[in-house]
Amino acid sequence: MQAVTKQQWTLKSRPEGIPDRSEIDIETRTIEDVPPEHLLIECLYFSLDPAIRGWMSETPSYLPPIPIGDPVRSTVVGRVQHSEADGFNVGDLVVGMGAWETHGVVPAAFFTVIPPDSPFPAHYYLSVLGAVGLTPYFGLLRAGKATAGQTLLMSAAAGAVGSLGGQIGKILGQRVVGLAGTDEKCRWVTEELGFDDCINYKTCGDMENAIRTACPEGVDLFFDNVGGETLDAALMNLNKDATIVFCGSISNYNATEPTPGPYNWWQVLARSVTVQGYLISDYVAEFPEGQAQMAEWLQAGQLKFKEHIVEGFENCLDAYNLLFEGKNEGKLMVKV
Ligand SMILES: NC(=O)c1ccc[n+]([C@@H]2O[C@H](COP(=O)([O-])OP(=O)(O)OC[C@H]3O[C@@H](n4cnc5c(N)ncnc54)[C@H](OP(=O)(O)O)[C@@H]3O)[C@@H](O)[C@H]2O)c1
Repeated sequence: MQAVTKQQWTLKSRPEGIPDRSEIDIETRTIEDVPPEHLLIECLYFSLDPAIRGWMSETPSYLPPIPIGDPVRSTVVGRVQHSEADGFNVGDLVVGMGAWETHGVVPAAFFTVIPPDSPFPAHYYLSVLGAVGLTPYFGLLRAGKATAGQTLLMSAAAGAVGSLGGQIGKILGQRVVGLAGTDEKCRWVTEELGFDDCINYKTCGDMENAIRTACPEGVDLFFDNVGGETLDAALMNLNKDATIVFCGSISNYNATEPTPGPYNWWQVLARSVTVQGYLISDYVAEFPEGQAQMAEWLQAGQLKFKEHIVEGFENCLDAYNLLFEGKNEGKLMVKV
């Protein structure tokens, strides 16, 4: 095969706080060959996920840290340019774990072919039909054992996971209350997505009281994407035998010092709370079921969602940091 020149966003050092270009920068590399069971793909879209920030650091996690000198790992949609693996042909659109690079040599085992007859655009497989959309689906139904009639409290409610999660809660027959960082986001989730209430956590003052007012019968299920002060405020409003689905903790992903708390952890004991650590990758074998249900709800008009697609490979890092400023509007992606 002919050598291919690619550009990649290389992790040059472990970021301190919000990552910048002294730590992650664009480099040019050459691809010379494709080993057996691998694919050469042209990347079309990158998924920009808060979890990537954790993989940039050295803290042990569910995936190993990104090695220094490697491109930043992320889920991607790409087109196969060369295949050394059965089941993949040149021209196939594929989705899987790749990196922020224009072209990549990737293990075929990490990728699946997007059905050529899919009625949805390819980038839906990074958002509503991908791991992000399936996160609230399995998080509520399996990890959280959500049932009708419960009060569901959703943090980062206007984000990709939260906005879909709240709507799934409504489909299941729950009272759904969100927490989001602007009045506009709160208006969107209540007026357009059907949440029962939404608290602007930046302007509400005492968050514990604000949750108590919005959830007069207490919280049965807390789907937490944020951690920190939000988790502490929620802990004081949980009902006996409530469940916390611990999905994320974005409020401390860029912390430069260890973050203390939660200060109200005793309430887990006092209220017999179940805390369920949750990872979407535990449900990979069940993705087809989740995708089929999400597709059905989408086509029936029961789910709405926003995608925030930033154009241009060179804008990847600036786009990524929108997540931590709350400036993304829906599922954040880059179109390469
Ligand atoms: N466990 C899993 O398997 C899994 C899978 C996917 C995602 N996740 C987690 O799900 C969460 C949401 O991910 P996403 O991809 O859907 O991102 P997202 O919610 O679309 O974007 C992140 C949002 O978090 C909010 N935020 C940022 N910094 C914050 C802070 N300091 N305090 C409170 N809120 C803050 C911002 O909204 P506001 O304007 O409202 O502040 C921002 O828009 C993340 O914690 C992520 O790690 C977990």
